Amino acid sequence: MRYNTVAVIGLSWGDEGKGKITDFLAQKADIVVRYQGGNNAGHTVICNGIKYKFRLIPSGAPLEKEIIIGNGCVIDPKVLLSEMENLSKLNKKINLKISSTAHVIFPFHQILDELEEKKKKDYAAGTTKSGIGPTYSDKAARWGLRLFDLIHPEILKEKLIKLAKIKKDIINSYISDWKLNVDEIYEEYYNYGQKLKPYVINTAFYLNQQIDKGKKIIFEGAQGALLGIDHGMYPFGTSSNSNALGISAGTGVPPKKIGPIIGVIKAYTSRVGAGPLVTELNNEIGDKIRTQGGEYGTVTGRPRRIGWIDLFNLKYAIMINGVEDIVITLLDVLEDIDPLKICIGYEFEEEELESWPIQSELLEKCNPIYKTYTGWKKLSREEWSEIAKNGYDNLPKEMKTYINAIKEELKVNIAMLSIGPSREDTIVLKDYFD
Ligand code: IMP
Repeated sequence: MRYNTVAVIGLSWGDEGKGKITDFLAQKADIVVRYQGGNNAGHTVICNGIKYKFRLIPSGAPLEKEIIIGNGCVIDPKVLLSEMENLSKLNKKINLKISSTAHVIFPFHQILDELEEKKKKDYAAGTTKSGIGPTYSDKAARWGLRLFDLIHPEILKEKLIKLAKIKKDIINSYISDWKLNVDEIYEEYYNYGQKLKPYVINTAFYLNQQIDKGKKIIFEGAQGALLGIDHGMYPFGTSSNSNALGISAGTGVPPKKIGPIIGVIKAYTSRVGAGPLVTELNNEIGDKIRTQGGEYGTVTGRPRRIGWIDLFNLKYAIMINGVEDIVITLLDVLEDIDPLKICIGYEFEEEELESWPIQSELLEKCNPIYKTYTGWKKLSREEWSEIAKNGYDNLPKEMKTYINAIKEELKVNIAMLSIGPSREDTIVLKDYFD
């Protein structure tokens, strides 16, 4: 049986433009599903001229598609409710289902995120301080609270009292006079639970049923493959499997029902947070790309670190995700930069490496091997939009050479190209859901 599912995965360090691509594909889809991460994500979608910045809500929301937050996610109910409220204010119908087994982020998780980061010093990942790591830690330690617990007051009270006591002891080892009012937290979270109750179901059953009925489904990755807990750059990544490997665990949908994995990459590299970045541009070119691309974190507002595109680490990400089709975003951002460089390999202790060395200690000592390409000239927003309307053949010839070099080196198909922030600034070379 052929299933109507696709996954949209960031192949680098997050912020590849997955929100825009998910929104584009969602036009033909029925359901959009988040399966990992939480409000550490920042997905920007421009739909009918309105800019949405989602942290938890799947990017199918502006199109009023059915949206699902799977069990692999960690949920800050306050953030979720405020995103729902914002959508309601825009008169958007919210068709949401939340997994009863997704874990809940509490205020003490956020406090611990900050305290642990400080304690880690050189090993701090530069987290979003949203409490993601501490919540996933509690999940693995098996004393976390899930949405099911949140919506059942008796269970919430019992489990919260126990967990809060454990967390208070830990926080007091950092800050001796830190106080915690469990009744207050209970009251607040009881209210959140009751508001979210109508949306909470067993999403694994529901999703499998919908897939079997032939519904068109998008699995929307958050962060990027290189930040993944198992196959990314540890410890400078996030706490979930932010790649295609996380879909089954984070939804209850078996691998055989998960369709083509569409890998999203930027025309250059960007990264927030700590850890080695082999192609990093700590110079005027990096500054220029940051300015032209508006490269500041959606969640934290931090300036993103910028580098040349790194096909060596992308090859690794393509391998672990089983990607055959890619989308290249933000190509227009590289305008008026000449020459452009593409990293095709690494040198380590004067030897060329065969595969991407996942260990940060090794990556720190790697030097990029570049090929150089001619850049393209600056165009107005209107000119880029006109090119998008007229299709691939109308792209600047230097850009086509750049895209072809990426395609040849990565041995993938190009599914889409994005040359501007709006849905209309997308060139489609391959259709899904037809
Ligand atoms: P955490 O996910 O907040 O624990 O942060 C861990 C690492 O992942 C840090 O380097 C963050 O900057 C990075 N990170 C988390 N979420 C995103 C995202 O959506 N885009 C890019 N980087 C992210």
